[in-house]
Amino acid sequence: MEKHYHIVTYGCQMNVHDSERIAGMLIELGYSEAPSLEEADIIVFNTCCIRENAENHFFGNLGALKALKREKKDLIIAAGGCLTQQKGMAETVHKKFPFVDIVFGTHNLGKLKDYILQKRDGYKKSIIRIDEDTGVIYEGSSFRTSYPNAWVNITFGCNNFCTYCIVPYVKGRERSRKSENILAECRQLLDEGYGEITLLGQNVNSYNNGSDDLSFPELLRKIGDMDGKFRLRFMTSHPKDFSEDIALAIAGSSHICDCLHLPVQSGSDRILKAMNRHYTRDDYLRKIDILRKHVPDCAVTTDLIVGFPGETDVDFKDTLSLVKEVGYASAFTFVYSPRTGTPAAKMEGQIPENVSKARIMELVELVNSQTRTMSKKYIGKTVEILVEDYDEKRGLYLGRDEHGRMGYFSSDEDEVGNFVNVKINHSNGVSIMGDKV
Ligand code: 5AD
Ligand code: SF4
Repeated sequence: MEKHYHIVTYGCQMNVHDSERIAGMLIELGYSEAPSLEEADIIVFNTCCIRENAENHFFGNLGALKALKREKKDLIIAAGGCLTQQKGMAETVHKKFPFVDIVFGTHNLGKLKDYILQKRDGYKKSIIRIDEDTGVIYEGSSFRTSYPNAWVNITFGCNNFCTYCIVPYVKGRERSRKSENILAECRQLLDEGYGEITLLGQNVNSYNNGSDDLSFPELLRKIGDMDGKFRLRFMTSHPKDFSEDIALAIAGSSHICDCLHLPVQSGSDRILKAMNRHYTRDDYLRKIDILRKHVPDCAVTTDLIVGFPGETDVDFKDTLSLVKEVGYASAFTFVYSPRTGTPAAKMEGQIPENVSKARIMELVELVNSQTRTMSKKYIGKTVEILVEDYDEKRGLYLGRDEHGRMGYFSSDEDEVGNFVNVKINHSNGVSIMGDKV
């Protein structure tokens, strides 16, 4: 009888892609996607602990499976990712939910297959392994569900230790995939008809730092030189490692989108220092100038944190003024949330919730008003949209332009995966609408 899998994913785009890698593994083991969680023979939780307190949510979801597991003795439940990699968490999961069969971490995702086979062979005990770092990057194929967009990992882990961030503790030191594997994967994706590739890593700019394999701008150029109609994006860049050579690589290839996600986090030098970001406000602004010198119409997006310990009204005003100065196309805004085990969690001057709330509202209002103004500028222009999906409710196709702006239009044909020219006649916050031309 056919066996089915169900994956529950928490967190960021990198986790979404990790779930595609896990799905690839499960398909190799003979599973296919379950129509519902109840019909699954294996359920995998891919967890995240970067920003939100995902713990309660995750525990709630696990707890709800107790009855199902009692009914279905052969059901395999596995849980892995950032949260289970956190200190003490694997043991906690095992203690609270002894029916969980496999707990894995972030370094041993490639071993999940072996653990599953071991359980299928009748191994009775739970397999709790978060310490097993093979040192080898898992290169198995992914089962992608995001056509025409494809995500390609280039680095794993992070060496930066920003004081608020848990990533270096749960994902370990930065490791880069071999360029030959990345190039082969990209070539294959383009041959399969994918229209957009996004290179992923916590800090893609430091790809292969200190090795004799290709540097990040060299990798960009190699992929950018590939034949075919496609777009190339990458995220995330760290301002301290963003170089003029990367700006030149963007400028030099029509495939590389004129957009850059460059998280600044704060506009205050004092806070940037306390965050251990290794750049000042001025350094950041200089990098933006260099970028715009080579790529004049580049859309810049960012991540911003409010309420970092010790943040004063003056520091916060510096963030607001930086947002105005750069003119971001859009931004992700976060309220600082202490992560156990990070230096910032122990810093003095934790900011009361009401202050952070007021600050984030002011910041969101500013970011939104800038985004709205930028969307309005599209009216009357024709943009090329790579169509991602069809919105049943609105009866419209949707996709992004080169700068990452979401556009909607109607069509009688199936447009998913097509590049379509759309004349924009309306804008609404972050999105734009128009007619196919
Ligand atoms: N609190 C709030 N935001 C955080 N981020 C990372 N850690 C935290 C934290 N502890 C945000 C940063 C980062 C993005 C991926 O998540 O802005 O760039
Ligand atoms: Fe976290 Fe900083 Fe690394 Fe980004 S660069 S993953 S914010 S430590």
